[in-house]
Amino acid sequence: MTAKPLSIVVLISGSGSNMQAIIDSLPKQNINAEIKAVISNKVDAYGLELAKQANIPALSIDHTLYDSRLSFDQAMIETIDSFKPDLIILAGFMRILSEEFVNHYAGRLINIHPSLLPEFKGLNTHQRAIDAGHHQHGASVHFVSNELDGGPVIAQAVVAIDEQDDAESLRLKVLEQEHILYPLVTKWLAQNRIALVDQTVYFDQTPLEKAIIIDADSWNA
Ligand code: GRF
Repeated sequence: MTAKPLSIVVLISGSGSNMQAIIDSLPKQNINAEIKAVISNKVDAYGLELAKQANIPALSIDHTLYDSRLSFDQAMIETIDSFKPDLIILAGFMRILSEEFVNHYAGRLINIHPSLLPEFKGLNTHQRAIDAGHHQHGASVHFVSNELDGGPVIAQAVVAIDEQDDAESLRLKVLEQEHILYPLVTKWLAQNRIALVDQTVYFDQTPLEKAIIIDADSWNA
């Protein structure tokens, strides 16, 4: 008997390239998951068009129409829950979430952040990595906690920072890796290989001491 597909809702704010990478990966990598809806807080997010093209219900909930963070988050929760998701994927969702939202989805809310967390939480990560004189940078997929970009990290992809890199070239290098990393973690979740127990990530029933690095070659670059 085939297991029930993992039911997913994706939240976006912009171009949705990570969302598209996940959409493409489901049939390609035989991932037992279904994206029930894509929701954006921006009505004109390009990712909504991509979702429609993939025949996925695409909705917007405009945060500017709500008078508080909490009332917006409550509207989001109501809509998300109507799709009964097992997993909520933040893919470039540019809103800080309330504690109520994060607690409601504890253990089934993941995000991708363009840095090797815990380094460079927040914005402008690529420029900050260059300014700090680092030789490596990357992306992290993590469970979301109430600390901004601070939840337990599941896996990371690493890229080398070359001398000629600027923030834009580095962003593109990292984004390419994000498009590999996020589908991979989604696949592991669909296979029930990952769980969060007391803020510790378990992979195949074993607690992770540190994040899984998916592009080991880059360490030597
Ligand atoms: C990515 O850089 C991701 O790491 C960050 O937001 C960006 C989203 O890009 N959280 P896209 O909308 O998936 O193209």
